[in-house]
Amino acid sequence: MAAFKKLVFSGVQPTGNLHLGNYLGAIKRFVEMQERADCLYCVVDLHAITLWQNPAELRTQIREVTAAFIAAGIDPKRSIVFNQSQVPQHAELAWIFNCVARLGWLNRMTQFKDKAGKDRENASVGLYDYPVLMAADILAYRATHVPVGEDQKQHLELTRDIAQKFNTDFAESIEAHGHGEGFFPITEPLIGGPAARVMSLRDGTKKMSKSDPSDYSRINLTDDADAIAQKVRKAKTDPEPLPSEAAGLNGRPEADNLVGIFAALRGATREAVLAEYGGAQFSAFKGALVELAVESLSPLSAEMKRLVADPAHIDAVLADGSERAAAIAAPTLDAVKDIVGFVRRGR
Ligand code: TRP
Repeated sequence: MAAFKKLVFSGVQPTGNLHLGNYLGAIKRFVEMQERADCLYCVVDLHAITLWQNPAELRTQIREVTAAFIAAGIDPKRSIVFNQSQVPQHAELAWIFNCVARLGWLNRMTQFKDKAGKDRENASVGLYDYPVLMAADILAYRATHVPVGEDQKQHLELTRDIAQKFNTDFAESIEAHGHGEGFFPITEPLIGGPAARVMSLRDGTKKMSKSDPSDYSRINLTDDADAIAQKVRKAKTDPEPLPSEAAGLNGRPEADNLVGIFAALRGATREAVLAEYGGAQFSAFKGALVELAVESLSPLSAEMKRLVADPAHIDAVLADGSERAAAIAAPTLDAVKDIVGFVRRGR
């Protein structure tokens, strides 16, 4: 296997309001990655339209996700922040990968089954093909590491399968074009941290989700202090006090979730949180959680508001990021076209 430079890629869909799950499970970790590698963070608008989006709302949400990235601490000078539709290589590589991926592989994708629901015949072809586009997002940059939530694990495995099959199917041509043994890296998923899965505040067995009909199930990044306080105080719990050790959270999904959120916000482990709060009643713990959540999220939401008030600035960030992203993806696509056997201009 050729040596690949460490490169981080991740994406967030511009659909619906961002919530604490998006922040702790993804964006907050994106910020930390900047210290350790070159990073690309993509607002995946092509993925968004696999389910119909109101065009005006889509445009607003693309800018909102970008604002959330920047407000959370992603530095658009250091990292590449852009939206997918401005870099044509994503869709182009996705087509080539459509011819590498197998029907049987896609038929196993559980997220498609969940999202398509009962009326599968009426789902868009794009929704079915979603994971192939995701592989193209990552591999257009030959990214080596992808921080994602637990729910994206299966899609990352598909990305690895596509990279592997491309490397094998075209091994001779890859070699002949001087790319060593493997053209695409076998990407590592980075899943973890205390809040890899942030669960609903109403049901600790369900993921916190923008599509949950109850707004009390989630903390939105735009919620003010009062809303945060109300939602945390109303969050479902069990009657026992908090355990002193993490093992005591087994079988207590709501307690586990609140402790996980507290730990992630503070940048600590569950164990450290329980060393402090073990034996406490939920009323006391929730009070501390409200304080911590408000303190962490209000500067973020204030900065998001400030940024979205200046869409021209956001659009300039995306234009600059897209140009820098395309400068990396274009040579990858040129090489892929040579490997596959296409005839191209400028050769
Ligand atoms: N499917 C991802 C999600 O819903 C978003 C995404 C699209 C992504 N392309 C990606 C994440 C590439 C990581 C890498 O969370």
